[in-house]
Amino acid sequence: MPFATVQGVRLVYDLRGQGVPVLWIHGFPLGRWLWDPQVEALGDVARSIAVDLRGFGGSSAPEGPYTMETYAEDLRGLLDLLGIDRVVLAGLSMGGYVSFAFYAAYPERVRGLILADTRHQADTPEARANRYALIERIRQEGTAAAVEAFLPRLLGATTRREHPDRVERLRRKMMTNPAAGLIGALQAMAERPDRTELLPRIQVPTLVIVGEEDEVTPPEVARQMAEAIPNARLVVLPSAGHLANVEAPEAFNEAVRTFLGQLP
Ligand code: MLT
Repeated sequence: MPFATVQGVRLVYDLRGQGVPVLWIHGFPLGRWLWDPQVEALGDVARSIAVDLRGFGGSSAPEGPYTMETYAEDLRGLLDLLGIDRVVLAGLSMGGYVSFAFYAAYPERVRGLILADTRHQADTPEARANRYALIERIRQEGTAAAVEAFLPRLLGATTRREHPDRVERLRRKMMTNPAAGLIGALQAMAERPDRTELLPRIQVPTLVIVGEEDEVTPPEVARQMAEAIPNARLVVLPSAGHLANVEAPEAFNEAVRTFLGQLP
């Protein structure tokens, strides 16, 4: 398992395929395995870097608080170590929040953006309070508290109905994340800035992609982002929820393949 040490933190990553460098950034409480359906299938057009963010999977989980900027710094350090100058950033949900932070800090390193099942707004006061309540539960009960809170909302209604086995598989993978990292990530999400002002300033081609049944970051939010970003295309995937890349991999990959093929 390759790893790099950045800012004193061990980051585990996979590097596969050939073509446009794409840095795949997973959501919460997931890991780099989220992108397995993309890394393999797009291996002829994308040089994929799929990383476990600090605090997830095999990467180290130093005590928080973390911020979205912390993750972005980690990723820039990883790209420097790999000798990769410009990438397409592909972020799902929290991975999208990290992508915004990265783009805001290092626009010259970004060739394109794939914003999957994510949102530009900050947390509402209620959402923020829920995150801090969950942090307390994780301190008492460990990782399972986060898994119980998020698992019911990640997969769409169609997947839950037609593939109940996938819910259990997802649970097992989510359980591999250490509590300290989940706490750090919840703090980072709770305190992340609103990115509404950034959207019209994004100057790279952008693919906004969302599952039609996404209950966490619904299609309406994706539509708002796509309208506000100057060079954006919106793709809504039927029969998919918040993990659209896993639930509708063929359609997701087709959209990414077209997007990568049209990059200047
Ligand atoms: C995620 O999938 O990364 C989270 O659901 C995002 C969030 O809780 O805001």
